[in-house]
Amino acid sequence: MVLSEKLVLSDASAQLPDYDRKAELTVFDETKAGVKGLVDSGVTEVPRIFHLPSPENLNNEQPQLTIPTIDLQGINEDPIRRKEVIRQVESALESWGFFQTVNNGISVNVLDEVLKGVMDFYEQDTEVKKQWYTRDRSGKMRLVYNSNFDLYAGPVTNWRDTFYCNMAPNPPQPHELPLPCRDILMEYSTQVMKLGISLLELISEALGLDPNYLLDMGCADGLGVLGHYYPSCPQPELTIGAQVHTDNSFITILLQDHIGGLKVFYQNQWTDVPPIPGALIVNAGDYLQLITNDKFVSSQHKVVANKVGPRVSVASFFTTGQTETSKVYEPIGELLSEDNPSKYKRITIKEYEKYYLAKGLDGVSALLHFMI
Ligand code: OGA
Ligand code: NI
Repeated sequence: MVLSEKLVLSDASAQLPDYDRKAELTVFDETKAGVKGLVDSGVTEVPRIFHLPSPENLNNEQPQLTIPTIDLQGINEDPIRRKEVIRQVESALESWGFFQTVNNGISVNVLDEVLKGVMDFYEQDTEVKKQWYTRDRSGKMRLVYNSNFDLYAGPVTNWRDTFYCNMAPNPPQPHELPLPCRDILMEYSTQVMKLGISLLELISEALGLDPNYLLDMGCADGLGVLGHYYPSCPQPELTIGAQVHTDNSFITILLQDHIGGLKVFYQNQWTDVPPIPGALIVNAGDYLQLITNDKFVSSQHKVVANKVGPRVSVASFFTTGQTETSKVYEPIGELLSEDNPSKYKRITIKEYEKYYLAKGLDGVSALLHFMI
């Protein structure tokens, strides 16, 4: 299978709805209460705007592969251990594009607190929460809450609400954040930034480069933190929590709660990413795939809807998508050769982001658009 086929998993845009979808989306959007609002109002059936073109198979009987778990204990003290970890990171990012980390330096207490902060944001009084609801990403509001960033662009509507906050390079003032998650979002972001820097050092070394290489390129210059809320769903097979996609980041550090539902596409099958207490999931995003000329893969993943819920997760995207910068990215020269010529055009993160957001999550990787 050639890469371009691999990147097109399900082109959901092929089916056109036979109802006034735009009008129904607008009614939903204008409630400013998200999917949680529907569930709170007692819906017992999934409204048609959320229906998948074909039902989701929730009873996958295939034997499951296991995503790698990497223990980060000792990487800064023990050079032999560090080398081992670098090899594990290399192997995980070349194959799965995903791994879990344990002993990652962030305490279970902070992990629990940030999940609780996200839950508390969503469980606020709806009238208070509505003040944060917007589709304006210009930065006027430091925290942007809505349901489905691609509501009007994407062919599939997710059973999920999300808030987004840009935490670096220009962190918000605490008073610009909602009270229920204010302090813990600031604290968690600081700790996630440290972990991201350590990981980018390991990833640089896994590429045979100087430890500072990716940091000097600006891979940790920007951080966006997303708090997702997946309400319980009365008919989970009819819809999806998060549509198949790859991330518009260099790397993403993901914290999920105990419920599960995240799946990654590897070796032609969907594999569960099981919750592990204290673990953080790390995955390569599109920008890492681009600058490594496909050595590291930005894998397709999705979150299924579930009768059990709500599920919350916190996704930390290393990206400068919200920042004015003219830095240009292309496959790293040191990794290229006559046998491995550059596969991608030169891009700025802004132009990639613009294309990604306008296209929405339609099951087709945005990377295809930037291939030579
Ligand atoms: C994402 C993502 C998965 C999850 O934010 O890009 O894939 O479990 N999230 O919420
Ligand atoms: Ni993702």
